[in-house]
This record gives sequence, structure tokens and C-alpha cells, in this order.
Amino acid sequence: QVFKLEDYSPSDYLIPATHLTFRLDPEQTLVITELAIERRDGARRGKTPLVLDGDGLDLVSVEIDGKPVAEDDRTVSPDRLSLHALPAARTFTLTMTTRLAPARNEALMGLYRSNGVYCTQCEAEGFRRITYFLDRPDILSVYTVRIEADRRSTPLMLSNGNPGETGALPDGRHFAVWHDPFPKPSYLFALVAGDLAFVKDQLVTRSGRSVELGIYVEHGKQDRTAYAMDALKRSMIWDETAFGREYDLDVFNIVAVSDFNMGAMENKGLNIFNDKYVLADEDTATDADFANIEAIIAHEYFHNWTGNRITCRDWFQLCLKEGLTVYRDHEFSADQRSRAVKRIAEVRLLKGHQFPEDQGPLAHPVRPRRYREINNFYTATVYEKGSEVVRMIRTVLGADAFRQGMDLYFERHDGEAATVEDFVKAFEDASGQDLSQFFLWYQQAGTPNVTAKATYSAADKELVLEIEQSVPPTPGESRKRVMHIPLAFGLVGPDGEDMGWDHVEGATVRNGVIHLRKRSHRLRFQGIGKRPRLSLNRGFSAPVTLSVEEKRADRLFLARHDGDLYGRWQALNTLLIDTLIRGARHIRGGRDAVLPDDLVALCGDIVGDDALEPAYRALALTLPAEADIAREMGSNIDPDAILAARTRLARAIGSAHAAAFKALHEAMSDTGPFSPDAESAGRRALKNVVLDYLAAQSDDAAPAARHYAEAGNMTDRAAALAVLVNRHAGAAETTEALADFERTYRDDPLVLDKWFQIQAAAPGPETLDTVRALVDHPAFSIANPNRLRALVGTFSSANQTGFHRADGEGYRFFGDIILKVDRKNPQVAARLATALRSWRSLEPERRAVAREALLRMVSAEGLSVDLRDIVERTLA
Ligand code: ARG
Ligand code: ZN
Repeated sequence: QVFKLEDYSPSDYLIPATHLTFRLDPEQTLVITELAIERRDGARRGKTPLVLDGDGLDLVSVEIDGKPVAEDDRTVSPDRLSLHALPAARTFTLTMTTRLAPARNEALMGLYRSNGVYCTQCEAEGFRRITYFLDRPDILSVYTVRIEADRRSTPLMLSNGNPGETGALPDGRHFAVWHDPFPKPSYLFALVAGDLAFVKDQLVTRSGRSVELGIYVEHGKQDRTAYAMDALKRSMIWDETAFGREYDLDVFNIVAVSDFNMGAMENKGLNIFNDKYVLADEDTATDADFANIEAIIAHEYFHNWTGNRITCRDWFQLCLKEGLTVYRDHEFSADQRSRAVKRIAEVRLLKGHQFPEDQGPLAHPVRPRRYREINNFYTATVYEKGSEVVRMIRTVLGADAFRQGMDLYFERHDGEAATVEDFVKAFEDASGQDLSQFFLWYQQAGTPNVTAKATYSAADKELVLEIEQSVPPTPGESRKRVMHIPLAFGLVGPDGEDMGWDHVEGATVRNGVIHLRKRSHRLRFQGIGKRPRLSLNRGFSAPVTLSVEEKRADRLFLARHDGDLYGRWQALNTLLIDTLIRGARHIRGGRDAVLPDDLVALCGDIVGDDALEPAYRALALTLPAEADIAREMGSNIDPDAILAARTRLARAIGSAHAAAFKALHEAMSDTGPFSPDAESAGRRALKNVVLDYLAAQSDDAAPAARHYAEAGNMTDRAAALAVLVNRHAGAAETTEALADFERTYRDDPLVLDKWFQIQAAAPGPETLDTVRALVDHPAFSIANPNRLRALVGTFSSANQTGFHRADGEGYRFFGDIILKVDRKNPQVAARLATALRSWRSLEPERRAVAREALLRMVSAEGLSVDLRDIVERTLA
């Protein structure tokens, strides 16, 4: 079944109030649902049946206004309940009882058990696995929830909103009532019950509401919640000043569970998290983990306004809450950390995940127009490109008008289920600007290509800038319209300062931004005394691929002197990628890699430049990943050649600067107490990057082994282990360190995931044997999404040479495991399967075996809708 955006129509029935009673039991949970139903004004009275969504449900009883519904007056299946004989009155009460087995729910949608804890995941369509309902986001209801459970095994019982009555029941059971005064869609419903430890804190909002904050974790893990709690309080305060948004309930609870399909979920007042994004301390979490926790805690909290108070009319509008909330969490992290470093990390992620999606068979608009399975649209395009589109709105309107637009959006749509049109209209009305051409960013898939060429005439003191845009065809969209692309830029003078101009024509240029609105523009900047270098798409103001026809010398100059830090990184990165691509082509052609001295020297200078913050230097010196190089090559990919080119460049940089890098490693080694702050993390990052370069140019594993042994925190320990595995495969030191890590963390699955991950990422065809063996490791479990992502996800997405083995064995292993996962957890199987989305850009031999693997999957029996959708679109 295909769902289409244009088919939306409001429901004939509303559910103003929902009362749920849960009699919890692992095998036999009873859910008693009492709904206040109301016929919508305009719906034809008595004529329209009430059709409720279900998914695999077992109905025990159904009553209307207290009377059982006769067999003839209803049609029941596990996936639907239709009631044809309804009361004449506009309102009535529908009561249903359903029976569930949470312990046997392996899809991790609806109500399930994770490590002995009952928990729920209802977005997007999981509520219908709990009870029959109008399970669509435009049905807003006020929920009252009563939970009953065994007191001893399940002392804690949580739901949305504020806590109400609690008490004892016969047979050692007890109950708790929760009431959420804010009408919400069913996907935001949540319940958690079990034996959990907690930490509490408190925050007074700016209008004086005192909010009790709770984080619930497995017993013994309380000490790992401090960073998450701190991040939560900083998020709450930040949203008050940055967006004027205040919290609205008396409690805010976060629960960490160990089996979770994604990162976290913003259920009203009761966020549920993958424990990976809550638990952290210096011994078990890396700096990257700390940064992710901060970002995801913020993300889910920010959803309270962008997602919960204002929700989505239908799932086509998903970016309305996700793109916007990602934008908000990006801004939060930028304010808490280094803005330039954060921006570069965002761009790397966007190019690494969203660009391949947008440029391959799974491409779709930020607001899709059709889907078969909505769970397959929680994508980098909806989230990350969606965030970039919001960022562009701010670039187009300016900071003040953007904030006024946001204020207007909140004012107009609070308590509603809104659309992307509503959102953009708020900005148009607040600013008086026409955003109709801009709206194409929501409607057209594909990464726009922008080409630019600058010509300077000293005689005329004029710079002519020719810019063209084109959007490539994507599945189902062959002809594209011309977009409104805001390109931030600077004209960099010989002294590195930005130059001004007297007059410009050919396009609107405002506040350092060129607004492309036509297929091609010819801009003339007049009154420019010296030849400037062009720094274009500063801060990555638009998510486009950019090719500027320019001299290598100009790029080298910008990498050293652009006043915009992002611009410097971009120039350096382009130089590195170009070199690596040429190197890979040479190697595939049987020649030597290219290792330009000027670029090697430049890298040394940037790493050693004390005027730049360490985190920035570390990012700049992290060579583009093999997948990045592959993406930029675009076609005829040979991962072995790419790996060889990359390894040789790393070795050249490492040996050219070995002495300086050793000194820097010393200088960046702190001895004081650990702190997860961005500054300290940056020093660790730089230290570990130079360690990797040093290892790349030496056969001696001893230094890395020493760093592993002496590491005082997980960041350094994991980095040293990765260096050993990647640069000194097979060395005795490497084997010993791997064994030590396994021994030390055997009882800590989250930490052991790093051990799986590092081994799965080890380059080379032999890694497949390692990965096959690790599937049988006692700590691995195919039922746990974190384990799967650490081992299989890392292998398929971060190991180009292992996964894309020329003999196709990598794909065969992958296909088998995906099919196995699909029988339990279709959502995770489908997500993993997207690793094959770029198969068409491989060289012919690999392309053929990849296709075979996809065909084998698609013809397997009993494929889930989720997996079938991904595989069929990938093949199409
Ligand atoms: N709304 C959640 C978040 O972004 C993610 C939910 C993902 N749901 C899904 N079915 N994939 O914070
Ligand atoms: Zn979200």
C-alpha cells in the first residue's frame, strides 16, 4: 500500500479524551482503553463507520456506552476494528480490552520488555500495537493512564504528564495514575515500568515553575547520569533564551533502556532513550559519546515545543518537527562548544550520510510525497537536510526576522497539528518576504550542483562571477525547477582580509550572501583594486555540491588565509579529496599515488598552528574517510585503490612531520583530572590524530601499545586501540590490547560495543572472518540494536574494503544476517540494508555481486514491508 500526501483528509471522528488501564504482565498484559469519541462537525451523522487502526492485536472485548457491541455491528481483524452501528449522539464512549505479550515483542515497537523493564515506543505507528485507535498524528487527545503491576518486580511505574494517585492492590500488586493535561497524538504516548534506579534534580523555569527532573537507569548506573542531567538543565535554560520556550509540566523524566531501535524518543514529559545516549563517565564513554549525549538530550527536550506542543498533521510533515528540532540542537551545541568546529562536524555528517542518500536510489524530498513504510523515512534527508533548510531560512531572512517568524509559528499553532506550509507562512508573514521559490527545498529531492568561475580584470577593477545551478534527476522526478540558493561568500584579499566593492549587479547580494534564483547568474563586482580569491558557500550556507574553477594556488591560499574558519577547512578538504582521488585513480591504473609536497607541508603548518583551537586542527587533519572519497569519485569505485591512496597520504604526512607530531602529542597530553568539556576534548582529539599519523609511518606498534596501556580515559583508550587495529594489524601488541579490552569490559555491553566497532572497521578483506566470528561472541546478540549497529552496521557502512569485497562474500554475510534480523525487527533490518544504497557507483565486478545480493534478499520469503521497501527501491 502506498500512502500519498495529496490523499490527506481530516478524520470523521475525534478522541478528546483517552483513559488507559494497563494490567502489566510479561506474557499476558491487559490494556483497557476507554475513549471519548466525538463526531467531527461536518462528518455525515450515522453514515460513517468508525475505523480504528490496529497492528497484530488480540481483542478481548468492545463496548459502546457500556454495552457490548454485537458481532454484526463490528468487523475485527488484528490490524483493524470497524464499528458500523454507532449511536446517533455526537459523542459516545468506546471501551476496548486488548491482550499483549510484551516479553515476546522483538520488534521493539509498541509495548515491550527490555532487560526486565516494560517500555514503549509508539512513533510512528506503534500505538496501534497496544490498542485500536485513530493512530494518526492529527488526533490530539488528553490522556489519563493507570498502571497496575506486581509491586516487587515492578516498583516503578511512569507515564506522560504529571503523577497522580498511587496505592496498593490485592495479590502484591499496586497502581499508579498519570495525567497529561496537554492534548497529544498517540505517537507521544509512553509507559515505563520496572525496577530502576534514579537520580533527581530540580530546575526553576524563568516564570517560576519548579520542575522535578528525573533520570532512570539500571541499578548501579546512577553514577553515569551526571553529564546527561547537566546537559538537560543547560538545554532547558538555553531554550528559554534562544527561542523563548519554557517547560510546561511539573516533572520531566528520562529513562534509559538497553534495547531501543533508534537514539531516543520525545514522549511528552517522559523521554525514553537508548542508554548509549544517557550513560557516560570518563572510563566508559568517549568525548564523541559525551557530545552525542548532550545533543540528543537537547534534541528530545526541544521537541517539547517543536513536535509536541506543535505536532505534525500527518507523517509527510515529519521534517516539520525533525528538521526544525535538529536545527535547534545544532545551534545549542554550537553555543555550548565551538561554533566552527560544530559546523564542520555537521557538514561532514551531512555529506557522509545525506548526500549519498540524495544522490542514490533512496533519494526523496525533505517532505516526501509518498511512502510505503513511514519508518523508512526517518532519514538523513528529513533530519539533516531538513535542518539545513531551516538554517537557510535564517540565512535568507536574517536573525531577527527568523526569530519573529518562529515566535509567530509558536503563537499561531500551539496545540495544533501543523504542516510545512504553516511553518513557512509564519516566516513569510513575519518578514514580508516571498518564500515560494524557496519552498522547493521541501519539495525537490536531489543535491543541487553549483558551478562558479571568477574572472578578474585589473584594468576595469572588476570581478566577474559566473554561477550556474542544476538539480540532477532523482527517482520519480526527472525535471527540476530552479531553486533559491543562498550562498554566503567573501572576496579574500592578498592580506587575507575580506575586500569590499563599490557596486554589484547580476544577483541580489545582501549581508555577505548571494541569492541565486535563476539557472545562471553573471555577477559583476565593481571597484575592486586587487585580484581577490573567492571564498564561496561559507559556513556551508546551502547544502549543495560546489565546484569552483580555480587555481590550486588559490585553494592553498584560502586554506591558509581565509578569514572564515569554515572556508579554510573547506579549501583544505577539497585539496585533500582531489589528491586522494587522483591517487586512487593512479593506483588502480598501476601507477604510484600522488603525494604533493605543498599539501603535505600545509597539513603540518595547520596542525602546528597554535592560533587555531586544537579541536579545529584535529578535524582539519582527519583525512576524508574512504567513503567520502568514494562519494566524491562518484562512479567506478574501487575501495582497495582508495584505501591504498589514503594510507600512503597518511604515511607521507606522518613521516614528513614525525618530530613535530611527537612534540605536539606531548604538548596535548594533559595530566590533570578528566573533564568532558569541548576544550579538553579538542586537545585529546588532536593528540589522537597525530598518534594515528605517527603510527601510519612506522612499523613499531610499541608507542601505540604504550598509549593504550597508559590511557586514563575511554577516549584515549579507544583511540589507541583503533590505531593498533588499523595501523598495526596482526602485531602482538594489537592482539594483547584487544584481549585486554575484552577482559576489562566483558560485563559492560555498551563499552564492548566499541570493541566490536573497532574490529568491524579494520580495513581489508580478512575483517569479514573476524566479523563472522564476532557474531558468535557471547556478548553479541542479534536481538539488540546497539550490538547489531556496532558490529554489522559498522562493517557495512564504515568498512569499504571489507564489506565491498570483490568476491561478494561481504554482501553474502550481510544479506544472511539482514534476513535473520528482519524476522524479529523489520525496522532495524531495513535501516541496516540502506548500506547498499550506493551499489551502482561501484566498479563493474563489485556492482554485479552487490546486485546479486540485493536480488537474493528481495526474493527471500516472508520479507517485511520495511525491508522490501528499501531493497526494491535500492534496485529500482
Ligand atoms: N522522534 C524521534 C527523534 O527523532 C525518533 C523516532 C524514530 N522513530 C522511528 N520509527 N524510526 O527524536
Ligand atoms: Zn527528533
